[in-house]
Amino acid sequence: MDKQEFARRRKRLMDIVNSGGIAIQPTAPEHVRNGDVLFPHRADSDFHYLTGFAEPEAVAVFVPDRKQGEFLLFCRERDPAAETWHGRRAGIEGACELYGADDAFPISDIDEILPGLIENKERIFYTMGRYPEFDQHVLAWVAEVSGRKRAGVHSPEEIVSLAHHLHEMRLVKSRKEIAAMKQAAKISVLAHEQAMRTCKPGLREYEVEAALLNTFMQGGSRSPAYPSIVGGGENGCILHYTENNAVLNDGELLLIDAGAEYDHYASDITRTFPVNGRFSSAQRDVYEVVLAAQAAAIAKVQPGNHWNDPHEAAVKVLTKGLVELNILKGRVPTLIKEGAYRQYYMHRTGHWLGMDVHDVGDYKVGTQWRLLEPGMVLTVEPGLYLPAGTKGLAKRWWNIGIRIEDDVLVTSSGNEVLTGALAKSVAEIEALMARAA
Ligand code: GLY
Ligand code: MN
Ligand code: MN
Repeated sequence: MDKQEFARRRKRLMDIVNSGGIAIQPTAPEHVRNGDVLFPHRADSDFHYLTGFAEPEAVAVFVPDRKQGEFLLFCRERDPAAETWHGRRAGIEGACELYGADDAFPISDIDEILPGLIENKERIFYTMGRYPEFDQHVLAWVAEVSGRKRAGVHSPEEIVSLAHHLHEMRLVKSRKEIAAMKQAAKISVLAHEQAMRTCKPGLREYEVEAALLNTFMQGGSRSPAYPSIVGGGENGCILHYTENNAVLNDGELLLIDAGAEYDHYASDITRTFPVNGRFSSAQRDVYEVVLAAQAAAIAKVQPGNHWNDPHEAAVKVLTKGLVELNILKGRVPTLIKEGAYRQYYMHRTGHWLGMDVHDVGDYKVGTQWRLLEPGMVLTVEPGLYLPAGTKGLAKRWWNIGIRIEDDVLVTSSGNEVLTGALAKSVAEIEALMARAA
């Protein structure tokens, strides 16, 4: 993302905060993995959205109409010894020169400086509850300013949800955000293709995961957007399976839910395919139902349709399919009304996608489902999960777990499937795997 994009976002935020307000946005804290080892730092998405600043221990502050500068960045100072051990720092000068801050201060001085910035402001835009430790700092700064009342200082009367405003902005993607998401999608398509080529009976699930990770990084992604799900056979029926260590058996399916993060934007793809490259007739029967449900749901991704339209379309096709396969018995409308499909389809058909894999943005506005608008991106991911031993389920369906997931951009004329280049029909998948064999 370039500097102009970040500056544009800050300008929009400044207009919302306005001269009576101040906005405070910290980045994410660091987390210990074990011993002296930290998890790789990933900036808070809201913080990154506004700054592009990737270092830990940083806080962005926005003070519209402040004469000495409106965009303030608190960050770590340069420190040659620390940088030799742990890596480069932008420092105070870099915060201004490289990241466009009007003013920058050492993070160690924040408790001294922040109360002065809050003084005489009417409201603070801040996201309470996300980082409870940081909340305590904010409350202490407000208390300090309140304590100066007798000196004629006004303290803020409201704390307004910053997240609410930022998330409305993040929900509709700009041209540059869409370009980053297309790149994330492209890398992930290549990774899933490589996984299909790699898969064969006898491998462990993590050996196929290795193909995914290799392709992600070769493509310029530094991390998956979420832990990859690589589940063979019965593991395909565990929605967020991440052990990825079982042997892949001939005759079983493999469900892979994996997506690269690129320049802080996620992709999220699921494909389900036969370990040996050929669908059995039972696997194919269920697969065709899920595929038809996904097509029906994607067709409902249109500007002006509401958030739940794709889900309702998917549920209809899945329920009808389950009846045709004799897995559910009864009248389709009644089964839908009773939610009978939930035994085999227990999640929803999608979620917003963006900097976070389950991205921000409200799904309802007031009591109504949100209407889709050009620039929104969502996943469409129906599935059916038929674990062994399910009461009343014929044996031929046991351990068939299928999900098919693509990333879909709402356009002015309909939609664009960002991950549409990846093999999806039975014929496409079998042909791709046969070529690799
Ligand atoms: N990968 C998580 C999800 O599909 O929602
Ligand atoms: Mn997924
Ligand atoms: Mn998803």
